[in-house]
Amino acid sequence: MDIQSLTNDPEGIIEADRAHVWHHLSQHKPYANGVDPRIIVEGKGMRVWDIKGKEHLDAVSGGVWTVNIGYGRKRMGDAISDAVTKMCFFGGSMGTIPGATFAEMLIDKMPGLDRVYYANSGSEANEKAFKMVRQISHKHHGGKKHKILFRDRDYHGTTIATLSAGGQEERNAQYGPFTPGFVAVPHCLEYRSQDGTTGAAYAAASIKAIEDVILREGADTIGSLCLEPITAGGGIIVAPDGYWEGVQELCKKYEILLHIDEVVCGVGRTGTWFGYQQFGVQPDIVTMAKGVASGYAAISCCVTTNAVFDQFQDDTDKLSFFRDISTFGGCTAGPAAAIENMKIIEEEDLRGNSVRSGEHLKNNLNALMEKHKWIGDVRGMGLFAGAELVADRTRKDPIDEKLVAAIVGDCMAQGVIIGATNKSLPGYNNTLLFAPSLIATPDDIDEITDAVDQAITRVLG
Ligand SMILES: Cc1ncc(COP(=O)(O)O)c(C=O)c1O
Repeated sequence: MDIQSLTNDPEGIIEADRAHVWHHLSQHKPYANGVDPRIIVEGKGMRVWDIKGKEHLDAVSGGVWTVNIGYGRKRMGDAISDAVTKMCFFGGSMGTIPGATFAEMLIDKMPGLDRVYYANSGSEANEKAFKMVRQISHKHHGGKKHKILFRDRDYHGTTIATLSAGGQEERNAQYGPFTPGFVAVPHCLEYRSQDGTTGAAYAAASIKAIEDVILREGADTIGSLCLEPITAGGGIIVAPDGYWEGVQELCKKYEILLHIDEVVCGVGRTGTWFGYQQFGVQPDIVTMAKGVASGYAAISCCVTTNAVFDQFQDDTDKLSFFRDISTFGGCTAGPAAAIENMKIIEEEDLRGNSVRSGEHLKNNLNALMEKHKWIGDVRGMGLFAGAELVADRTRKDPIDEKLVAAIVGDCMAQGVIIGATNKSLPGYNNTLLFAPSLIATPDDIDEITDAVDQAITRVLG
């Protein structure tokens, strides 16, 4: 087939996609039955255009909270082009100029952390972290301290091992059996407090619930606790005040490494460089992906302290180094894009904008909650927010997932792309999700929440 003529032929592209592309998280039956797959062809700032010419305001940064600096940045393309033209790739046992430069820039934003291991996706970065924990256990604890704790409603990736650390039942369904040695602790969503407590009492109860798991399993069997700083796809859960101090104390008391998964919150999303920095917590391992290069190139990082790194330095033991490989961790496009991405965030004060426009977003969502009895809870931080929809505010019965999908669909028809917890949490796929690019203006935010207002009115009344 002539590729040039195909790109000038929208119908041909749609048919090629329908015939041959397998989309992520998608049921393809409607495409087979005549619904056209949506093809995105161009992006500028906060907006994207599809192949049929329809304009969309994107409130979810590329669907999965990635394009933190917005679309169409020529200097990102130039930085990638320069890097790959000079030196596109070399396997990670050698360094590259973009790799070393970005590692230094990144560590400068992460006091207390020291080492950057490059990979390509959030799942892969988390796998690296899990492997480090396992190897430390073998090398220093006779293999016993190998368990990895994760939290209900958190998500850490799509591979079998990261799904083994997955707290979203519907994401895991049909993919077992899973990797042994992963143990769940309860979620910390105060709105759905497990024991009815709130505020400081709920924080204390949540910490006690983690400690109970540690004591049940035996602290000498637990290598790490892996947590999202704000649970993202599990419903935008910000832990109650006091929670993170408690987490830090538990990790110290029981000698458990704290692994924070910053795949979503990392690089400015909440207003600080990393989500954990909102809570004054000091992790041992931090993983990140989406916002690192805002989707202009594939890159993820697993960042550790020297205390973690040093456990792999022993030239008397031939197996003691981190025996991991990431072929495409050696692509220079990733760190070259990440350098430029970080410069843009600094030059344009996009972290400050995340705080300011995030406040505007939260105010607008709170105003919608006043207006619509269907919104039971609004939560989030910076340009990262959720609105939980309920059929009854007192009983907090979740709205049916189909109605939530209808609201998302109505916004899409209005030209505004929003998200929702989606086939992840049995019975609780009822939270609308917002993570616009960090360049979002108050006008953009108003346009987003106006669309939601109209959609809720039309779908729920
Ligand atoms: C918190 C979190 N961790 C890890 C991942 C996995 O990242 P990836 O899809 O790049 O493998 C995601 C993806 O959405 C995520 O939300």
